[in-house]
This record gives sequence, C-alpha cells and structure tokens, in this order.
Amino acid sequence: MKSQHPKIKIGFAGFGTVGQGVWKHLKRDRKRLEKRLGVRLELAVASVRDLDRARPVKVPEDRLTTDFMAIARNPELQIVCELMGGTTAARKFTLEALRAGKIVVSANKALLCEYGEEIFTTAREHGGHFFFEASTAGGIPIIKALREGLVANRFSLIYGILNGTCNYILSRMENEGLSFPDLLQQARDLGYVEADESLDIDGVDTAHKAAILSYLAHGRWVSMKEMLVEGIRGITQEDIQQARELGYRIKLLAVITRNLKNGKLFVRVHPTLVPQRLVMAGLAAAYNGVCVQGDVVGTTFYIGHGAGQDATASAVISDIADACLLLKGSVHPLLPDETGPLHEEYSPPCDLATLEEVKTRYYLRLRVKDAPGVLATITGILAAQGISLATVRQREISDTKQASLILITHLSNEKAMAETLQLLGKAKEVLRKPYLLRIADFEE
Ligand code: NAP
Ligand code: HSE
Repeated sequence: MKSQHPKIKIGFAGFGTVGQGVWKHLKRDRKRLEKRLGVRLELAVASVRDLDRARPVKVPEDRLTTDFMAIARNPELQIVCELMGGTTAARKFTLEALRAGKIVVSANKALLCEYGEEIFTTAREHGGHFFFEASTAGGIPIIKALREGLVANRFSLIYGILNGTCNYILSRMENEGLSFPDLLQQARDLGYVEADESLDIDGVDTAHKAAILSYLAHGRWVSMKEMLVEGIRGITQEDIQQARELGYRIKLLAVITRNLKNGKLFVRVHPTLVPQRLVMAGLAAAYNGVCVQGDVVGTTFYIGHGAGQDATASAVISDIADACLLLKGSVHPLLPDETGPLHEEYSPPCDLATLEEVKTRYYLRLRVKDAPGVLATITGILAAQGISLATVRQREISDTKQASLILITHLSNEKAMAETLQLLGKAKEVLRKPYLLRIADFEE
C-alpha cells in the first residue's frame, strides 16, 4: 500500500564537506527517519560551483546544478539547506528562499552574525523559518539547549571552545609538539577549516558563534566591533610550556558574561589559560565544549565534535527533522524571531559593559633587555596602572643579553591592561611587542 505520509522535498545549495555529509547520512538512514517523522523525504537537488569536481558522495547527474537561485525559487522544495558558506551568494539565496516561504536550514554562522536581523525579519514577514543548529559548536545541540531546554533561565556566564580548528591546533601543539603550519594543513585535510582560514585562526569564527549564543541567551546581537576578539596566531611553544608549568592549558575561549543585577553584557574571544582541573582544559582535537550557567539550572556542560562532516551533518539533519515536524504542524519551535529577547520581563537593560568592567587575571610575555633595573621599570609601569603581580618568571636567553619575562597578574581589567600594553610597547627596555593572554578563573 502506498504511504499516506506527506512527501517533503529538500534542496541543497552547496555540496562540499557539509552538504555531502548531510546527503550521505539522510540517504543511508532515510527509512528510519521517515518512520520517526511520519513523512517521506526526497533529496531533490544540490548545487555546486564546479560540476566537474570529483566528489566522494555520488549524486545522479540530473540532481546536480550550478543554479543555486533556482533551488531558492523552486516551488516544489519545502526545505532548502544553505551550505555554501560566505555571505554574498548565501545571503541572496537565503532571503530569496525565505521570501518564497520556505524553511531554510543553515550552517552559516558568518551569515547569521552579519545579517541575522534581516534574515529573521524576512522569515517572519513571509511565513518562512530559519534553522541554524549547525552554525555553532558543530554536532553539539547547543542552539536547542539554549532556545528550548534552558528557557527557564537567565545566564550569568556562558563560555566555551567553539572552534574545532583552533582546538585541534592548540591541543596537538601541546600534546605532540607539532608545528602550527603542519597542524593547520591537517585540519584543512579533515574538512574543519573555513574557506577563508583567517576566520578560524583570528578568532572571527568563534566570535560569530559567540554572537549567536549571546543573541539566544540575551536577545541582543553584539557586533564584532563591540567585542574583544583575538586569535591564536601569536601563541608559541614557550607559552604552552609556561602555561603547563603554571597548571594551565591554552584554549581559544568565547566568554559571554551578563551581570544579572545591572544587566551589563560583554562578549569576548581570546586565547585563555584554562586551569587544568576544568572540564574545558581536557578537550582535545576538534572537540568543542560549552559551559552554560543559568540562574535556575546551575552549571551545565555540552561537549562534542565541533567541526567536520559527520558532526555537522548530525546538526543539519536535526534541523531538517524539526522542519519536517513544523511542516506537518506537529511543533511550533521557539524561534528567536518569534520570542524576541528570552526574558522580556527582565528589567535591567542589556547594555554593554565597559572595558573597565571586564575583569580578569593576565599572563604577559615580554622580551626585555637583561640588565639591572629592567624588572623594576616593568613592574613600575604595571603598578602605575594599578596592576599588581602574582608571579614573575624570568628566563635568560643565552648569548643575547636578553631575557623572556612571564608575568602573571592579580585581578585587573581590560582598560588598565590596554594602557599598560601601550606603555610597555614604548619602553626602551622592552624589545618586542608584548604578548598577552587572559586567565580563566571560572568556577564550575
Ligand atoms: P565547502 O566544503 O567549501 O563547500 C561549499 C559548497 O558550496 C561547495 O559545493 C561549493 O561548490 C559551493 N559554493 C561555495 N561558494 C559558492 C558560491 N559563491 N556560489 C555557488 N556555490 C558555492 O564548505 P563546507 O565546509 O561544507 O561549509 C559549508 C558551510 O557550513 C559554511 O557556512 C561553514 O562555515 C559551515 N560549517 C562547516 C563546518 C565544517 O566542519 N566544515 C562545520 C559547521 C559549519 P564547489 O564544490 O563546486 O566548490
Ligand atoms: N571552521 C569551523 C571550526 C567549522 O573549525 O570550528 C565548524 O563551525
């Protein structure tokens, strides 16, 4: 007997690492998913730039096209996946599909971060929907957790490792002493790295994901220029070694803080010395981890593969499943465009904290002249900004009359530290640009 279940046709704009992963798993597991969702699924069409490129996942020739806008407009497709990346073609495709009333599933954090408001408004105006579980933390269902599972909470702190490429590089630099360029190439080969790899390495991809989490948690888009964003390029084996001896591991963290009394929000992304006892310090390879502290639930952790074909496909397919249920009328998801700020009744406004209000401890690496009085000059510069030191480590660099100084500060703030860095940069005793890392003092 013919199935009475409705048929849902899915189109893919983009058939690279993620697109092929989604197609592969949907095809392999179609029957089981169809049974659970009560629908019939058809993988109708996928678009690429280059039809002649060899692809591990095979698709009938008549289902591949270069015309991604035809997919956005095709009235037979109810769900379309934007898996091209970038913000130009992806924005055009997404808006067109939403205007056509389709459900768009996306893994594109850059697009969402830059055009989130426009996308949600367009979806609302045309009765379409935009799902984005795969945009943040790969296979970890963190979007669903924040939007649905933790809806009862206000969030004082969300922090985590949100970039698989950087964690892969940092953890293997530490564990195996391998070089940065070699590890970047391996991460590329594994399909972790963005087409523009500086997005990963310079912290921008993590910042995009932090903006998405911050929006879900606090109902406000924080732009890149309102955040503090630093990447991992400057980290040396010396930093990794020093961190280890001091009881830390270096991780690229996103940190989203909200003062629940005055409402002040701040989003920052930077390499961080994480105490070895914290869960986050133990995450190696392309693992991501998110710690969410809610006022009702307390501390929760989410850990899983943060990049790569299969983990990301898992997240995209979960959105496709939600989209199918939505089309069937079974669920009405709590989308951010429908709920607005999650805590509308929450009286303190969501203003941004000033740099003076962002407090942490710091690790400072300096290359200095190895001469009498140098240490006194350096500590004097810090003291003038009200920064006091907890630890000083000095290593002589043989035959150079130079020394490497590692300073660990007590609690200070971003404004004082930014001024200190400027002054140190001008001091004749300091021979190279000072290098700064933050220290995580979170409680779990
Ligand atoms: P990818 O391997 O480079 O695949 C991109 C696909 O889109 C390719 O099929 C490419 O065609 C096509 N494409 C790219 N630019 C296009 C354009 N301007 N016009 C038409 N087609 C275009 O990228 P990916 O790794 O799958 O990533 C896709 C998206 O998922 C990105 O937004 C990325 O940030 C996100 N994401 C990736 C991962 C991951 O681990 N890779 C994880 C989470 C999220 P050709 O194949 O012919 O070049
Ligand atoms: N380039 C990203 C990363 C892909 O390495 O985390 C997953 O978003």
